Parts: sequence; structure tokens; C-alpha cells
Amino acid sequence: MKRAKLTIVGAGNVGASCALWAAAKEIGDIVLIDIPDFADKTAGKALDLAQCAPIERFDARIVGTADYAAASESDVVIITAGLPRKPGMSRDDLIQTNVKIVRSVTEQLIAVAPNAVLIVVSNPLDAMVYTAWKISGFPTHRVVGQAGCLDIARYRTFIALELKCSVEDITALLLGGHGDDMVPLPRYTSVAGIPVTQLIPKDRLNAIIDRAKMGGGELVKLMGTSAYYAPAAGSVQMAEAIIKDKRRILPCAAYCQKEYGVGGYFVGVPTMLGGNGVEKVIEVELDAAEKDLFASSVAHVKELVQVADGFLKG
Ligand code: LAC
Repeated sequence: MKRAKLTIVGAGNVGASCALWAAAKEIGDIVLIDIPDFADKTAGKALDLAQCAPIERFDARIVGTADYAAASESDVVIITAGLPRKPGMSRDDLIQTNVKIVRSVTEQLIAVAPNAVLIVVSNPLDAMVYTAWKISGFPTHRVVGQAGCLDIARYRTFIALELKCSVEDITALLLGGHGDDMVPLPRYTSVAGIPVTQLIPKDRLNAIIDRAKMGGGELVKLMGTSAYYAPAAGSVQMAEAIIKDKRRILPCAAYCQKEYGVGGYFVGVPTMLGGNGVEKVIEVELDAAEKDLFASSVAHVKELVQVADGFLKG
């Protein structure tokens, strides 16, 4: 049987960290791609990573290149290419440049990996997933965005810090776009089955929710660029679910037509991820306040998609 093939486009902080997590988890062979100007650097990162294998004991062929031919017949592609945020920028400020980059990357990918599932990580996330979908012409279940896995990991981290308990016991749900208006759902958050609302007072929980929503910005301020370890871990969590056909329930930016009444946009919702990509979008009941928050997050996603569409047509 052949090993699965994972291609990662963009060998910067997020892409290289994806390669590291994927290698350590031994989920398949890895192809790391960046632009020709960075060909040597990309080859070097792949070689450096390959030399971890005897120490960490994983079997994977790891290639770093500027040549998309290396990505042929990939099972999954993680697209991280694009500018990251700098302090003072919002994710939305990246749209014009990143539409161009994601467009060009997607065009090159579909020529060599027409059956892959695309996981998009570039920002502004929801508009970049749309861009990759529009350009690829892939069915909606084979294009998905990474945001919820990261956002929920931040939320779970802060809850665990508050309760001084293991993050492993915290499960949670989050909806909406990957912006400061994302919607963590305390009603669907539990600690080993105990509703979090019974363990953390409302004001503290609200502070945790706010910190999770601004979690990306907190890191940009500290590091001068956007986060990479956790965004990469979230992306590889999704790739693993798909490659191993795990049918995991993970919050992802998935195409919603009638689901949640979204009307044909990619937004963060609970999904089942398996061998076909998005196996299904799971609809949960929302109360009036949750519906309002979700609606305003979706409205923001729609605005961004319109802007992206303008650049795609222009
Ligand atoms: C973040 C970026 C990757 O949230 O969007 O850190």
C-alpha cells in the first residue's frame, strides 16, 4: 500500500511547523513548496527535518522544492502561502495580496493534484477558502479552512489555565468566521462532561472568551508576526483526520448552503472530517443570542468574500 502524500504550500513559519507536526505524527510523505526565490531555503528545511527522523523515529520522505510537479497526486494539500499579519494589522488587511497568492498557488496545484483535499490556512481565512474553492472548481467537500481547530485550542487552553486542569478534558464548540467576531459557545463547552458554566463564573468565562477571540492579535503583538505552532497543529489535526479517514468532529470553515441558513459561504461550523474531506456539516441548536452573534460574524465573512471576488474579477 502506498503512503499518503501531504503537500504543504508555503515554507514559512506556519508551513514549516506543519511539516514538523506531520512528520512527527507520521501521517505520510511530505512535500514542502515555496516560490523559486526560496527554493534552497525550502530544500534546506526539508532536509533538516528529514534528519530528525532517526532521532524521533518516523518514516517519511520529505522534499522541499519550488517545483509543483513534486505535489502530483497529493492526497491532502495545506495552503499556508501568503503574507502574515504585522502588529497593528487585522487579518482583513492582507486580502488583496493574499487573494493573488492563493489564486496562483491553487492554479498550480490543481494541475498536478486534481483529487486532493485542500486545507486553507492563509488569511483572511474565510475569504481565502472561498478563493481556493472558486479557482480550483473542486467540489465543496474537498475545500476546507483551518481556523476553528486553532481558535478552539486557544479557548480550551485558557479554560484549562483558569481551572488548573488538563486541557485534554475540555471539549468545546465555536462557530463563525476567523475574525475577532468568532463565536465560542459556552453552552456547548464542557469539562469532562460538566458544563463549563457550572465551573467558571460568568464574568471570568466572558474574559476567557474575549481572550480567545483576540488570541491571534495577542500573539502578533508579542511576536511581531502571526502565530505558527498552534495554527500548524490545527492544520495537521485536520490533515490527519482526512488521511486516516477518522471522521473526527472538528470546527472548520466549511461550505454552508442551507446549513445554518448561511446561503453559500465558507464559515466556521462543526464538521465531520474523513477520507472525503468534509463528510458533513453538523447543525446544532442555537439560542437567540447565539444566532445573533453568528449572524454578525457571517455578515462580516460575506463582506470579505465580496472584496475577494472583486480582486478575483479585476
Ligand atoms: C491566528 C492567525 C494564524 O489566528 O490567523 O493566529
